Amino acid sequence: MSEKTLVTLIPGDGIGPEIAESVKRVFEAAKAGIEWEEVQAGLPTFESTGELLPANVMASIKKNKIALKGPTTTPSGKGHRSINVSLRQDFHLYANVRPIKSIPGIKCVYDNVDFIIVRENTEDLYRGIEYKIDKDTAHGIKIITRQCSLDVGRFACDMAVKLGRKKVTILHKANIMKLTDGLFLEAILSLQSEYPSLVINDMLVDAACMQMVKNPTIFDVIVTENLYGDIISDLGSGLIGGLGVASGGNFGSYKAIFEAVHGSAPDIAGKNLANPTALLLSAVTMLDFMGKGDVAKKIQDALFKTLRSPETRTRDLGGSLGTKEFTGALIANL
Ligand code: NAI
Repeated sequence: MSEKTLVTLIPGDGIGPEIAESVKRVFEAAKAGIEWEEVQAGLPTFESTGELLPANVMASIKKNKIALKGPTTTPSGKGHRSINVSLRQDFHLYANVRPIKSIPGIKCVYDNVDFIIVRENTEDLYRGIEYKIDKDTAHGIKIITRQCSLDVGRFACDMAVKLGRKKVTILHKANIMKLTDGLFLEAILSLQSEYPSLVINDMLVDAACMQMVKNPTIFDVIVTENLYGDIISDLGSGLIGGLGVASGGNFGSYKAIFEAVHGSAPDIAGKNLANPTALLLSAVTMLDFMGKGDVAKKIQDALFKTLRSPETRTRDLGGSLGTKEFTGALIANL
């Protein structure tokens, strides 16, 4: 029997444990050759141990170099720093890749959407450098560096060339934020001579939002800053069926953490209502990345077959199956 590869699994909180369980069941049934090293992070961990991101989680990712992560809750306007932001900054996972591709049979406004968002993952306003001037005034600092802009720009261009894509579009607001967004834009435009087979162009992010809704096929690969990338990813998910199906991965030079676009969905947590597709697709990308293309395809084919039939969909896609029953239907299709 071939050896299994050890991968860190962080189920997270909210719907995280339910959808992580689905991935574990599917991988087991598909004989994906993965052994999970399961570690806990998130709100329940904080409540029981006083730590959100315990040292054993960091050590496990450092050792295994690849992780699959479920969502984790971050309170708004108060409380702790986001675990995601910490992981992305601490492991310098500088590129967050989010494919926006129509799923066969899932009826949306368009059925031919196919672009990839590459989001800078470590700086911008998401550095979280904020301070209060007085009780009625708060400041936040936006950090953009040439190095991080070039790193994410090169990542997007290399990926575009590898996948046979033709165009990389930089989204920004350099008309208003002339120094920060201006630097991001200038740095990535300067890469054009390194990538003669690509067109590198740019668009204002607000205009791009309108185009994404009216004319999404004009996009091929998008590269953008951290905050804009976060927002347009959710917009993009709306073009392909919603947050329940939008997958992603965070990449650095030596490590990768795969996770869905969506959050911990507290409104449906613990109710067997979550759609595990987004985390499953993230896990399929992980298998591809690990060179396990055959089993990745087997799982994706079974997943798409399950989604194609309205009877075997979860509630967010108009079906009636719970997370567990959907997982069972997928396994039957393997
Ligand atoms: P959310 O993405 O958790 O939920 C938004 C809406 O989409 C909700 O109605 C939810 O029920 C639905 N939804 C999300 N995922 C779904 C799935 N797999 N199946 C079916 N329906 C799904 O966004 P929200 O409510 O703004 O954030 C909740 C928490 O998640 C916050 O604390 C936020 O900070 C955190 N968050 C964590 C992320 C991560 O860990 N990667 C990413 C985004 C948010």
